Amino acid sequence: MKTTKMFSKSKYFMIYISLFMILFVKINYANIECQRRYYDQDSFVCVCNEKTCDTFDQLKKTPIGVVQVYETSRDGFRFQSSHINFTNDDNILSNNDDHIRINVDKTKKYQKIIGFGGAFTDATGLNIATLSEKLQSKLIENYFGSNGIEYTLGRIPIGGSDFSSRPYTYDDYNDDDTLSKFSLQMEDHQFKIPYLKMAQKISPNKLYYYGSPWSSPRWMKTNNDIRHGGLLKGQPGGKYYQLFARYIVRFLQEYEKQNISMWGITIENEPAAGFDSHYQWNCLGFNSSLERDFIKLDLGPELYRNGYTKNKLAVMIYDDQMPQMKTFTETVMSDEEAAKYVSGVAFHWYHNDEADRRDMDKLNAQFPTIFLLATEACEEWKNYPKKVHLGSWHLMNRYANNIIQDLNHYATGWTDWNLALDLKGGPNWVGNMVDAPIIINATANEFYKQPSFYAMGHFSKFLPPNSTRINFKIESNHVHAIDATTFLRPDGSLVMVLLNSNQQTIPIQVYDPERGHFQLVMKSESIATLLWY
Ligand SMILES: *[C@@H]1O[C@H](CO)[C@@H](O)[C@H](O)[C@H]1NC(C)=O
Ligand SMILES: *[C@@H]1O[C@H](CO)[C@@H](O)[C@H](O)[C@H]1NC(C)=O
Ligand SMILES: *[C@@H]1O[C@H](CO)[C@@H](O)[C@H](O)[C@H]1NC(C)=O
Ligand SMILES: *[C@@H]1O[C@H](CO)[C@@H](O)[C@H](O)[C@H]1NC(C)=O
Ligand SMILES: *[C@@H]1O[C@H](CO)[C@@H](O)[C@H](O)[C@H]1NC(C)=O
Repeated sequence: MKTTKMFSKSKYFMIYISLFMILFVKINYANIECQRRYYDQDSFVCVCNEKTCDTFDQLKKTPIGVVQVYETSRDGFRFQSSHINFTNDDNILSNNDDHIRINVDKTKKYQKIIGFGGAFTDATGLNIATLSEKLQSKLIENYFGSNGIEYTLGRIPIGGSDFSSRPYTYDDYNDDDTLSKFSLQMEDHQFKIPYLKMAQKISPNKLYYYGSPWSSPRWMKTNNDIRHGGLLKGQPGGKYYQLFARYIVRFLQEYEKQNISMWGITIENEPAAGFDSHYQWNCLGFNSSLERDFIKLDLGPELYRNGYTKNKLAVMIYDDQMPQMKTFTETVMSDEEAAKYVSGVAFHWYHNDEADRRDMDKLNAQFPTIFLLATEACEEWKNYPKKVHLGSWHLMNRYANNIIQDLNHYATGWTDWNLALDLKGGPNWVGNMVDAPIIINATANEFYKQPSFYAMGHFSKFLPPNSTRINFKIESNHVHAIDATTFLRPDGSLVMVLLNSNQQTIPIQVYDPERGHFQLVMKSESIATLLWY
C-alpha cells in the first residue's frame, strides 16, 4: 500500500517534470512575440529594446501534407504561425459557396528570384549608430539574420544621396581630371561599411550588394552643382563621361579594399531628374540614348578593362519610374554593342499603374535574357505634414500589394529604401523626409518595427534566391478579391502569399494537383504566407 502510494506520487512528479520540460523546450524554440505599441494609427508597431525584440525563427521543414501558415493582420497577428492539413475529402468543401478557389499549376514556370532587401543609406547608418551596440546588431539581425526576415539584397548609394546629412561626392576637388583625390568619406567608414559587414557576418545567406550613384562630382556636370539637374559635360566617349565611368570603377575598387564586393550596380539613380533644373537633390541626367552611348563607349569598356565582366558584375540600366521604362530599355537594348554589357533593368515604385505592369510583361517577352528588379520604394506621405506614421496598416498593404503585382509581372526581387530612419523620417539634407519599415527612437534606445517590416518579411523570409514563380488560377464567387502569388523554392517546397485588403474575412480553398486541397479563412485586412512540401 505504502509503496504503491509512493510510486504514484513519484509518477505524478515525473509527469510534472516531463510537462515542465516540454513547456521549457517549447518556450526555448518559440519565436519571441511582438511587444505592441499603439500610436495614433489603425495598427501598431513592435517595440525592440535591450529587453525584448520579436523574432521570426528559421523555417522548419514540415511533413508532406502539412501546410505551414504565417499570418500578419491589422488587428493583432505578426507572423503568427499555425498548420493546416491537406485533405482528399471533397465533402468538407462542397457546401461553402462564397469562397475563392486557387488552383496551383506547377507546369508553367516564370522568372527566378534574385532577392529582397533595403538600402544602406547614410541616414540608415546615422540612425543605427545612435543605438547601443547590442541593439545595433539586433536591428541588423532583424533584417538579415536567420531569426529575422533574411534579406539578401542591399543597395548602397555611391557617395551621398538626399538621405545624407550633407551634399558630397567622392571627389569634390575642382578639375581633378585624374581622380587622384578620390576617396571614400567619413560616411562610408562610419555609417555604411560597418553595417554592411555586420549584415554579412550575421546572415546565413550570401548577400547581394549593389551600388547606385546619385550625382557625379559637380565639376563633371554642365551646371557645376550636385543638384538642380545637369548632365555630364560633353558627349559620351568624351572626357567627362570617361571620368564618370572611372569614378564608378573606383567605388567598386575602394569597397573591395574594405572587403566588400558588389554583385551589381545601377548606372544612375533616377536619371530623368537630371533634366529638371528645379530638382532639389543629388542627381545626374541620362536619357535613353545618353545611357546607351555611355555604356557602349565608356562604362562597359572601363568595367571590362578592370575585370568587371558581365559574369562578375550585374549592370542594371534605367533605375527610374516605370512609365518610361519600356522605351528606355528598347533604345539601349536595340544597340548590340551596348546590350552586351547589360544584365538587368532596375525600376522604382513611385508612379506606377496597370499599363506599366503590362510593359513589364512585354519587356520580359522582348528581352528574356535580362532581369527586372525593383530597386527603390517608400511611403512618402505626399500632402501629409507628418512623414512617419507609426503603426499604419496602409504601409503594410501598399508594400504587399506592390510586391505581389511586381512579382506577378516578372520582377525578380524588390528593394525597399532606407533600412532605418528617425522619428521624423530623416535625416535628409534637403528635408525630403519619408517613412521606413524600422523607425529609431534614439533617446529611448529603441526601434519600432512598422507593419511594412512584416510585409517585407512575408516575401523575403520565404523566397530565397532561385525560387521560381509558377502559375495559378483563381476561381471566385466571392464579391471581394484577394491578391496572390505562387513560387516553387529551390528545396522543392511551394510558397503562396495571399493578401486580403478587405474588411471582410474570405474563405479560401487551395488545390495542388499533387497534394489535394485545403481550406483556410483569411482574416480581414491580413497577409498570409503558406508553405508546403
Ligand atoms: C495533421 O497532420 C499531422 C502530420 O501528418 C498530424 O500529426 C496531425 O494530427 C494532423 N492534424 C489534424 C488536425 O488532422
Ligand atoms: C580584408 O580581409 C583580409 C583577409 O581576411 C584582412 O587581412 C584585411 O585586414 C581586411 N581588410 C579590411 C580593410 O577589413
Ligand atoms: C538625350 O539628350 C541629349 C542631350 O540633351 C539629346 O541630344 C538627345 O537627343 C536626347 N535623346 C533622346 C532620346 O531624347
Ligand atoms: C521616444 O523616446 C522618448 C524617451 O523615452 C519618449 O519620451 C518619446 O515618447 C518616444 N517617442 C515615441 C514616438 O515613441
Ligand atoms: C541559382 O542558380 C544558378 C544556376 O543554376 C546557380 O549558379 C546559383 O548559384 C544559384 N544561386 C543560389 C543563391 O543558390
